[in-house]
Amino acid sequence: MTKPDPDHVLIFDTTLRDGEQSPGATMTHDEKLEIAELLDEMGVDIIEAGFPIASEGDFAAVSEIAQRSKNSTICGLSRANFKDIDRCAEAVRNAAKPRIHTFIGTSPLHRAIPNLSQDEMADLIHETVSHARNLVDDVQWSPMDATRTEHDYLCRVIEIAIKAGATTINIPDTVGYTAPRESADLIRMLIEKVPGADEITFATHCHNDLGMATANALAAVEAGARQIECTINGLGERAGNTALEEVVMALKVRHDIMPYSTQIDTKKIMNISRRVAQVSGFPVQFNKAIVGKNAFAHESGIHQDGMLKNPENFEIMRPEDIGLAGTSLPLGKHSGRAALKAKLNDLGFDVGDNQLKDVFVRFKDLADTKKEVFDEDIIALMTDGTDVDNDRLQVKFLRVICGTEAPQSADLTMEIDGVDKQVTAQGDGPVDATFNAIKMLFPHEATLKLYQVHAVTEGTDAQATVSVRMEENGKIVTGQSAHTDTVVASAKAYVNALNNLLVRREKTKPEAV
Ligand code: KIV
Ligand code: ZN
Repeated sequence: MTKPDPDHVLIFDTTLRDGEQSPGATMTHDEKLEIAELLDEMGVDIIEAGFPIASEGDFAAVSEIAQRSKNSTICGLSRANFKDIDRCAEAVRNAAKPRIHTFIGTSPLHRAIPNLSQDEMADLIHETVSHARNLVDDVQWSPMDATRTEHDYLCRVIEIAIKAGATTINIPDTVGYTAPRESADLIRMLIEKVPGADEITFATHCHNDLGMATANALAAVEAGARQIECTINGLGERAGNTALEEVVMALKVRHDIMPYSTQIDTKKIMNISRRVAQVSGFPVQFNKAIVGKNAFAHESGIHQDGMLKNPENFEIMRPEDIGLAGTSLPLGKHSGRAALKAKLNDLGFDVGDNQLKDVFVRFKDLADTKKEVFDEDIIALMTDGTDVDNDRLQVKFLRVICGTEAPQSADLTMEIDGVDKQVTAQGDGPVDATFNAIKMLFPHEATLKLYQVHAVTEGTDAQATVSVRMEENGKIVTGQSAHTDTVVASAKAYVNALNNLLVRREKTKPEAV
C-alpha cells in the first residue's frame, strides 16, 4: 500500500458496526444506507459497514453499501474462521475498494474463550489472515483486547499477521482500559520491535470506558498510528468509541501541536451527527464536545459580552466549521417562504419547490403554536418521518382525557386505506391509552421495543420528538414524529412505525408463482 503523505491520518468509521452493536442502537436497512452515504460524502476513508455473518440484514446492508460506495473503502468485520471471512468477502465484493477486517482476542482472558494455547492461536491467525488475503488485497487484522495482551505475544502475532498479508494492523483498547501515555508507548514499541511494521498502517481503536478514548487515539497517532477508528457521536459498545468529530476537530484546531491531516469535510459534521442521533435513538448529550447543543452556546453575561467583542474570547473554533449556521435568523409566524428556504439551506437541507410547499404549511402550523421557531424545530419538521401522501394509516383526530385517576382514555379517528375508523380506548396514562386505541383500530402482532421522547427546544411550548422502535418476526422498524403535543407526537410516531412495517411486509412478501 502506498502512503503518500506520512502525516495523513486515515479515518475509519465504525458507526454502522461497533456503533450499531450498542444495545438499543439498531438501525434499519435504509437508515444504514443513508448514514453510509453521508460518511462517504464527508470524506471518511474507510467505512466499516457491518458484520456480514451476524445476520441476513447485516449482510444485505454491507453488500448494498459496498455497491453504492463512491470514494470510501468498504470494510466488513469477520471472526477468525473461514466461514465468516468468506461471507464478509462476498458482502464487500462489489465495492470499488473492498476490505476484510478479521479479529481474534489475544489477551490471556480472551484466549481462554476459545481455549486455545498461544501456539494454536498463532497458527489460526496465520491461516485466517492468509485466507482473507487470498480473497481481497486489503486486509485488516485486529488482536482484540490488545492493550491487555502480553507484549511479547502481541509482537509475535502481529508479525505473523503481517507475514500472512495484513495491510493494516489495528490495536484495539477493547475495554477502554489504557491511558494516553501507555497508548502511545504501545504503538511506539510495536513499530520499533515488529519486523515488517514499516510496511503496514497501524490503527488505533479505543473505547471510552474511562472517558479517555479521544486522548488515547490522539496519543497513538503521535506515536505513529495513521488510522483512527471512531464513530459519529462516539456511539458504540458500553461507553462508546472515540468520537469522529472530536479527533477530527482536535487535529484541525490544534494543528500547531499535532501536525496531522485528515480528509474530512468538517462542515458536514453537524448534519451527520443529528442524523445518527435520530436513527439510532441515542440523543447527543447537551454538553458533548463539538456536537452538543451547548457546545457553541454562551449564556452568562460575561461570556456574552466577551463574545460580542470578539468571538475568539470564548470560542476556539467557528460554529460554521462544523456546519452550524453562525448567526441564527429568528423564524416565526411572520416569516415567509424565502426565509424558511434560506434557513433550510443553512441547515443542510436541499429542498425542491414541492417539498418546500409542504414544509412551509407545517412550519406555519407550528409557528402559530410557538413564540419562536428554533433550528431544532425546523430539523424536526424535516425529519418527522411523515410522508402523508403514501401512508396507508393516518391519524385524523385524537382527544385524550387525562386526570389523577387512572385509567386515562383516548378518542381516536384514523384513516386506514382511505376509510375513517373511530374508537375510544383506555390505558394506564395518555400514551398507553392512545397506543391501545391504535392497536384496536389496526390490530397487529408487532411488539413495542423502544419508546423515547426528546424535547428538541426549551420551554413548555417545545416540540417533542418521539421515536418508537417495533419488532415483528425479528424485523425492526422505527417511527418518528415531532409535535408540540407529546401525545400527538407519540401517536404519529407509532403510526409512522406501522406504516414502515407495512412497507417492509410488502417488500419481503414471497413472490406469487
Ligand atoms: O473493541 C474491539 O476490540 C473491536 C474489535 C472487533 C476490533 O471492536
Ligand atoms: Zn470496539
